Amino acid sequence: MIAAIVQARMGSSRLPGKTLMDVAGRPLLGHLVDRARRIPGLDAVVIATTDRPADRAILNFAAAEGVPVWAGSEDDVLDRFHQAAERFGVAVVVRVTPDCPLLDPDVAGLVLRHFLDAGGRLDYASNTQPPTFPDGQDTEVFSAAALARAWREARLPSEREHVTPYIWKHPDRFRLANVRHAEDLSALRWTVDEAADLEFVRTVYARLGAGRVFGMDDVLALLRREPALLEINRSLTRNEGYARSLRADGAAAVGPGDPSMETTPRPLVRSEEYFARAEKVIPSATQTFSKGHTQFVRGVAPLFLQRADGSHVWDVDGNEYIDFPLALGPIVLGHNDPDVTAAVRAQLADGVALSLPHPLEVEVSELLTEVIPCAEMVRFGKNGSDATSGAVRVARAYTGRERLAACGYHGWQDWYIGATTRNRGVPAAVRELTHLFTYNDLASLRKLFDVYPGQIAAVILEPVGVVEPAGTFLQDVATLTRANGAVLIYDEVVTSFRVALGGAQEHYGVTPDLACVGKAMANGFPVSAVVGRRDLMQVFDEIFFSFTFGGEVLSLAAAKATITKLRQGEVIPHLWKQGRKLQDGYNALAAGLGLAARTRCIGLPPRTVLTFTDARGQDSLAMKSLFQQEVVRRGILNAGGFNLCYRHDDTDVARTLEACRAALGVLAEALTADDVEGRLRGPVIQPVFRRA
Ligand SMILES: Cc1ncc(COP(=O)(O)O)c(C=O)c1O
Repeated sequence: MIAAIVQARMGSSRLPGKTLMDVAGRPLLGHLVDRARRIPGLDAVVIATTDRPADRAILNFAAAEGVPVWAGSEDDVLDRFHQAAERFGVAVVVRVTPDCPLLDPDVAGLVLRHFLDAGGRLDYASNTQPPTFPDGQDTEVFSAAALARAWREARLPSEREHVTPYIWKHPDRFRLANVRHAEDLSALRWTVDEAADLEFVRTVYARLGAGRVFGMDDVLALLRREPALLEINRSLTRNEGYARSLRADGAAAVGPGDPSMETTPRPLVRSEEYFARAEKVIPSATQTFSKGHTQFVRGVAPLFLQRADGSHVWDVDGNEYIDFPLALGPIVLGHNDPDVTAAVRAQLADGVALSLPHPLEVEVSELLTEVIPCAEMVRFGKNGSDATSGAVRVARAYTGRERLAACGYHGWQDWYIGATTRNRGVPAAVRELTHLFTYNDLASLRKLFDVYPGQIAAVILEPVGVVEPAGTFLQDVATLTRANGAVLIYDEVVTSFRVALGGAQEHYGVTPDLACVGKAMANGFPVSAVVGRRDLMQVFDEIFFSFTFGGEVLSLAAAKATITKLRQGEVIPHLWKQGRKLQDGYNALAAGLGLAARTRCIGLPPRTVLTFTDARGQDSLAMKSLFQQEVVRRGILNAGGFNLCYRHDDTDVARTLEACRAALGVLAEALTADDVEGRLRGPVIQPVFRRA
């Protein structure tokens, strides 16, 4: 049952007896009950009062009105709520209070719907953390289970007296969300604490009619017509300074097309706390540059995530986001996929690391040879870099040559990273052996073969990145490479198990000699592989490619479950379908705002990238930052593109496009005002690689 539990007692330090004071011929509590009964989706209203003699009046009121009532502890209101919920079999509690006689049932209903729409992924939702609705529209919704946990664990008097602080102070224990009004109205005081408040409410009822349940918009319209009414209790307005600064925040960042309601981040307190600790013990405060603090707008985007489920993630402060980085690509089925989790759990009971090869090595290798066109044999690594470095070593051993031609990104090892601007620590002798060529520019590769005849061991490239191959580029690269006696290596770390089960080689119908796969292969578990032609793969017998955690079985169990599920055929078409909706939707929004020349969503739909260019056509990290800031504020975690997973549903897509609409509106306005950086609440994000 979903019930509003209304706490009510006669005692009140500032306005004793207020609960039953008259407003337009009805007690305050009566107005609240009338309004609570109209909350959409609610099954019942329950009053929770105290067992003190003074509160018999409330018991009498409840009896006269036919409202179920529970009488419990005066001070331990948390206990009172818990007992009431148990007594009446309440599964979802809506907490509203009689000092809010102007509560709009639809506002409360919005919070309730937000909670219910999360389908069990939330423990608590409110519109007060922080407040953006008028003081007096306060609604909190929580599960009976969360209430019971708070009841068991809360110790502080304040936590017992105010019911929910234990829940919202612990985002690590409870999954929290806040519903926000697009305009910050929190400075409006419609609650009844003191005599002047009562006068204000009585005046509003007198103006708007005692007999009907009017809504928040009616009161706002009245105040616009008669702003003098605000004077009645203005002196009591709490947190005026805070409200003003929030209003200023809202004005700066809310642009055209803003959805009327948005989920707002709770302050990133724990993110900052962990970051301060991380900086002391972890260089760059991260293990992976692309997940680090320079890649997200500081102060707006979270710095640490706590957990993930399906297509959503939660940060350490309890904010929920739709996840598009997807751990930089590995999540293809969705976080915590039941089949993968079950397979890993089962394997966990049988051991993680064994002293001899495990049958899973054979089974997953066989699977890979069945699904990847070039795969005749397989060796596993842990990271993509293991696979690319293993493949390159095989090619060098096979050809007896040392030079490499590379295009794209291939990981952290010397042979590749030495050719980038992050090459410190790589010996010059190694750096000189890797030569970069340009995608879709066959002449740039031909030139390398001309300059280094008979010296290039391998051509390694990402068969498709953000730009699609033009014409016969992939076939031409294959022909040129083989004509020069070099090995053709496809780096399919990103594309495998995503653009097609067998990767880009399957999608484009061009088969390389070796391929490196990883990322999505095990839905987030760390495993990669080199696969390819038998005669080349047999060179692994002679080189050294061997490490303690090669063949670690949990990841292989996850890989088997992931590939098996992908093979059933539903997942990858879903990535294409949802990705295309996002891509087309984004580009239509940008065009509608006249931004088509400044931002685009490009790439293959299962993994798209957003481009942002300034007036001179240069990449603009400031524009990218502002867009990111505005979507993150609306609950979309975005690092500059959309990776799709099987759990991104239509609601995710619709919410994301709604956030994009608002963010692009802000961006358009900022561009018109020539003030993109001025609208940023944190520093511009940084490139991982400096421009050469
Ligand atoms: C195309 C490509 N190759 C190789 C790698 C390196 O993989 P890893 O970071 O797992 O070592 C990456 C990582 O992003 C990649 O995108």
